[in-house]
Amino acid sequence: MVKQRKEFPHKIEDVDSKLAEELMKHYTGELTGFVRVGPKGYFFPHKYKECAADFYNMLVKPDDIFINTFPRSGTTWTQEMIWLLQNNLDFEKAKNTPLALRYPFLDFSMLVHPELEKQMFEENKQDEEKLNIVKIANMPGVEKVENVPSPRFIKSHLPLSLLPPTLLDKAKVVYVARDPRDVVVSVYHFCKMHKIHGAPDNFKTFWNYFRKGLHYYAPIFEHVKEAWNERNHPNMLFIFYEELQENLPAVVRKVASFLGKKVTNEQVQQICDHLSFNNFKNNKAVNHSLLKKINFVNTDQTFIRKGKVGSWREYFDEEMELQADEWFSINLRDSDLVYPTFPTKCIL
Ligand code: A3P
Repeated sequence: MVKQRKEFPHKIEDVDSKLAEELMKHYTGELTGFVRVGPKGYFFPHKYKECAADFYNMLVKPDDIFINTFPRSGTTWTQEMIWLLQNNLDFEKAKNTPLALRYPFLDFSMLVHPELEKQMFEENKQDEEKLNIVKIANMPGVEKVENVPSPRFIKSHLPLSLLPPTLLDKAKVVYVARDPRDVVVSVYHFCKMHKIHGAPDNFKTFWNYFRKGLHYYAPIFEHVKEAWNERNHPNMLFIFYEELQENLPAVVRKVASFLGKKVTNEQVQQICDHLSFNNFKNNKAVNHSLLKKINFVNTDQTFIRKGKVGSWREYFDEEMELQADEWFSINLRDSDLVYPTFPTKCIL
């Protein structure tokens, strides 16, 4: 029996061309324009239009394990933990196989503009290994995950409402949230170093776009609230990046229990050592070495960057701090979501 495709239920609207042109001066990886999606106005590159219905209709299997986050919220850290717990702590394989191959990123190819895709192919066509990386990276996401054996590990930054509506009833989802002020700083550095993105020279300019929801996957609070509202679903585990920082062994135990895995104290310790910031920073398998290999990373900076809670303070002046307080207040007013680093008493 052929499965009926559901109609994509949200409106997809082009971002006004004047604003799009302004943004493309900064987000230099996009050359066509942007869209906003649905009642929350999720912001994406133009290419999202082609993939929206495929993402929404992808076939979810009962043994899939999704990691779902807003970008730069602790995805990689948690992915590696999940993968190890599900794979009998196979540290050897983890160190020798890029995480992107063990845990495919559903929405990656949507982020690569067709012109940049062409450039990637052109620049890497002489080297079979690099060409293979380019092919995998640009494979449409749904096809990519269809090609991996079960149990599948799937990474997505899409908000829950843009993923298959049956996702949580069928598969397990771990969602990681992080203080949006640290997220914006981390996204900024990330975009500067990646040719497929680009960012303004000035962080304040970036902040002003980001807080208005003018960046991929934004608005961040809506993204997080969608997952927070599902936090009690038996197939959802909601954690904060700040919890990982504060008590990694406790989170490892929590994730293990969610996955139905038993772990000894010694194993928890081994996982924590493997996941420690210094080990992780020097671990090529998790540091996006694939994009570096095909020359699509601008600097020598690593994907695992500072790994701190609260380093936004080094970037925000007084005006931005007040804007951030207001941003939190407006967006948390209708929700019982509480960030560990922004207690409710701070709500204006
Ligand atoms: P910073 O840019 O603030 O350093 P994601 O994997 O979702 O893209 O998140 C990346 C962020 O998580 C980066 O934040 C990165 O340094 C941080 N991170 C990754 N691994 C970490 C670890 N083992 N310990 C602490 N932070 C880590």
